[in-house]
Amino acid sequence: MGEKLVVVGQGRTGLTLAMRAVEAGFHVVGIDADEWRVKRLSAGESCVEDVGDGVLAAAHGSGRYAASADYARAEGFDICVITEPVAVRGGVPDLRPVGSAGEAVAPLLRPGATVILESTTYPGTTEEHLRALLEEGSGLRTPGDFFLGYSPQRIDPGNARWRLDNTPKVVSGIDAASLERVTDFYGRIVREVVPVSSPRVAELCALLESAFRQVNIALVNEMSIFAGQLGIDMWEAVDAASTKPFGFMRFTPGPGTGGQCPPIDPSQVSWNVRRGPGRTFRFAELAGDVNRSMPDHVVNRLALALNRRHLPIRGSRVLLMGLSYKKNVGDCRESAAIEIAKSLRKLGADVRAADPHADDFLLPVGIELVEPTSGELAAADAVVVLTDHDCFDYELVQRSARFVFDTRNRCHGPNVEKL
Ligand SMILES: NC(=O)c1ccc[n+]([C@@H]2O[C@H](COP(=O)([O-])OP(=O)(O)OC[C@H]3O[C@@H](n4cnc5c(N)ncnc54)[C@H](O)[C@@H]3O)[C@@H](O)[C@H]2O)c1
Repeated sequence: MGEKLVVVGQGRTGLTLAMRAVEAGFHVVGIDADEWRVKRLSAGESCVEDVGDGVLAAAHGSGRYAASADYARAEGFDICVITEPVAVRGGVPDLRPVGSAGEAVAPLLRPGATVILESTTYPGTTEEHLRALLEEGSGLRTPGDFFLGYSPQRIDPGNARWRLDNTPKVVSGIDAASLERVTDFYGRIVREVVPVSSPRVAELCALLESAFRQVNIALVNEMSIFAGQLGIDMWEAVDAASTKPFGFMRFTPGPGTGGQCPPIDPSQVSWNVRRGPGRTFRFAELAGDVNRSMPDHVVNRLALALNRRHLPIRGSRVLLMGLSYKKNVGDCRESAAIEIAKSLRKLGADVRAADPHADDFLLPVGIELVEPTSGELAAADAVVVLTDHDCFDYELVQRSARFVFDTRNRCHGPNVEKL
């Protein structure tokens, strides 16, 4: 019998890892607190775009995958990977999901087993917080009785080129023996493993990657506001700068950020440096401010554009295209588009939305999900492109809509105004 792997959290990262581990020969139990998700997974329905139902069916068919909400199914595990997100509430990281996973796993820990944290979290979580919970709940010690490590997530939803298996994975352990175990595990899952000297380095690496995106998105967002005021096409400037083969990485403006990584993760560093060295992580805070202001900026730009057409927001029919925070995915949690939809609704607009990927139960009250047909596009006073899903027919949008406010640079023509 192959080794038993438990993956706590069967969301985007946890399910992806579970499926890859089944392919690599592990017996996998996927634990999730959400019973509805467990039911769907057990019925062969994937809740993650990048994991097709076919992959899930193959995992079930192998007899080496089961989803469950019950930690009793984790008993006798060799390796446990914890993947749930760490939220930030009132500026303070909320480790409760990771804590409850640690508490649930601890009594099941056996000598020689390995626990790995993957959640993006502030430095010290693995070595201080998780280690204490595991030692207390199991009566075992590490180093010595069990192995413990941290490895950051690098999942890019909707990215067909860079998948879990071909993206280098940074790994760490609290001692040399733990690092060896963690390296060996991921060596069977991904092509390239990058060992670092401690979990703190790996935890900071994850936060650096999130902050890098947050800061660079904020940079182009703020510049796009000035560029618009100066009458310069920001998109053309980004395209031109992107021809530089060194020292530049392409980021594009947009209506704001969403999801977990860029908007939430860097604020864990802010909290960490305030609590530790007593300093402020100015870059992360400024970038967060800029990106959080973008939905208001989009609403203001739309109001000005409608005003030029002698239309108030109140009573105007607005069709929002794309609601999720990322192209070609359906996850709308914390998305800028949902914030924009709510603001427009509050101002009295008749708001409709088109998004074939979005689950309609996540829609704010009073916003109807529609098909972006030529009739629907023509009936809108303004069509606002917020998330540039590839499945939208942008030619049809340009042809049919009276006015398009495009925050993603997908439409062109005299009836189009760009962010
Ligand atoms: N840096 C990157 O490239 C990157 C990319 C994706 C995710 N991440 C990080 O990975 C982590 C997970 O993200 P995700 O996208 O998989 O999240 P997700 O929301 O898709 O999935 C999380 C899952 O955990 C479950 N869960 C929550 N609390 C639980 C608990 N106490 N016990 C069991 N299950 C629980 C939820 O029901 C959900 O199914 C986050 O920390 C995120 O920041 C990093």
